[in-house]
Amino acid sequence: MGNFANGHYAGSSSEAWMTRKGNVSTMRTHGPDGELAPFHVDYVIGGKRMQDAVTVFPDGRWQVLPVYFHVADRTWVDYTEAKQGPLSPEHPFYWTNARRMANHECLDCHTTALHVDYSEATRAWTTSFVDGNVACEDCHGPGSRHAETSEPADIVHPVHSGAVGMSACARCHGPRRPLFSLLDSEHQFRLGDAYDELYDPIVVTMPDGGASPDYFVDGKPKTSSFEYQAMLQSACYRKGKADCLTCHTAPHDPKHNATELRDTPAALCGSCHAEIRAAGAAHTHH
Ligand code: HEC
Ligand code: HEC
Ligand code: HEC
Ligand code: HEC
Ligand code: HEC
Repeated sequence: MGNFANGHYAGSSSEAWMTRKGNVSTMRTHGPDGELAPFHVDYVIGGKRMQDAVTVFPDGRWQVLPVYFHVADRTWVDYTEAKQGPLSPEHPFYWTNARRMANHECLDCHTTALHVDYSEATRAWTTSFVDGNVACEDCHGPGSRHAETSEPADIVHPVHSGAVGMSACARCHGPRRPLFSLLDSEHQFRLGDAYDELYDPIVVTMPDGGASPDYFVDGKPKTSSFEYQAMLQSACYRKGKADCLTCHTAPHDPKHNATELRDTPAALCGSCHAEIRAAGAAHTHH
């Protein structure tokens, strides 16, 4: 999606020049040492609202290039700089550093069955995955046995799987701290595992009782994709047991588009809040 035909972006500390020759897209920007150099775009993440370009370093680190493409506005932006302030090469969020390493920070939510390894001998990373996006086995679990037997019991059907089904969505639709290192391959999430055994969701209150810096004082999240946390903290989930699949269809279902709901919001909410729905204008004042 990115406009690589002679694009340019200049922020307070980052600057980038985008070019495209044949199939090769390149971003020229300040590198690990702060010096300008060209970086090849090897992969992209997203493409619906935003698209981020990724370059693979010789030691196998996938780094998210500093400037993102805003699809609707067709402009280049630097949200990291906007959030963190001007970035120097020492800053953890400077694009060549650890917090911008996609194999570590992004790919487990943007691929299917990610596997990352590090060799101490060669000091290099290797990265592999089954599908380079959100795909069948993210929500249905390992499927090779089911492909041979066609038995419903050999695959996860999220809607009929209680907490396992909900963890299929929660794992990606809510920021969290993984409890095990990415290199501990025994303990990477596979559908069927209990969410709470592997992740600690980032919620308003910190374990020590303080307020999380990821929320404003009124509890509103500072960044995006907090759907799981929003749900966890609602009475609709705690008392009514509403979960993602009460309201959302399968995001891949060919009969629906990705954002389609099982019914109109009024009908969905009204299924549990019938009196409020029936009260109409007396409740809404509209
Ligand atoms: C905890 C899981 C998770 C992690 C980690 C994560 N993302 Fe995402 N990302 C999501 C979800 C979920 C969405 C969809 C947003 C929504 O909820 O509407 C998304 C959306 C996006 C989009 C917009 C996609 C589009 O088509 O418009 C981009 C680009 C993106 N993420 C890049 C990244 C990058 C770069 C990183 C690492 C620095 C990252 N993400 C880490 C879960 C994650
Ligand atoms: C983002 C999660 C997600 C992904 C990715 C996903 N599914 Fe599903 N799938 C679901 C959910 C949720 C349901 C239950 C739908 C419902 O009851 O409305 C479902 C239902 C199904 C069903 C049963 C349909 C039925 O009538 O009950 C089949 C078959 C299926 N998926 C196959 C696939 C295949 C094949 C892929 C990959 C091409 C895939 N799914 C990818 C979430 C997902
Ligand atoms: C492996 C991570 C992953 C899983 C599992 C997952 N999602 Fe997503 N979801 C994403 C990402 C990333 C996007 C952004 C679009 C994209 O890049 O495909 C997204 C997009 C969506 C959207 C559309 C929002 C938009 O941007 O238009 C909905 C709705 C959604 N997901 C609901 C669900 C539900 C419900 C489940 C559980 C059945 C689920 N997702 C499971 C990662 C995931
Ligand atoms: C599966 C049932 C269910 C669904 C669906 C549902 N709710 Fe709820 N909701 C509840 C229950 C149960 C309570 C707690 C009621 C009580 O304590 O009297 C609640 C409480 C609330 C509250 C009170 C605030 C709070 O968190 O304590 C609001 C507001 C609310 N719901 C709005 C909505 C809206 C808007 C929708 C549709 C998007 C919705 N609900 C869908 C079951 C549900
Ligand atoms: C009580 C009903 C309800 C529940 C439960 C619920 N959602 Fe939603 N969700 C909605 C409604 C309504 C919207 C707004 C749809 C719109 O604007 O058209 C929405 C919007 C979204 C969007 C943004 C879609 C877009 O177009 O940007 C995502 C992503 C999403 N929900 C994911 C989830 C996930 C993941 C869960 C579970 C953790 C969840 N939702 C639980 C009703 C619900």
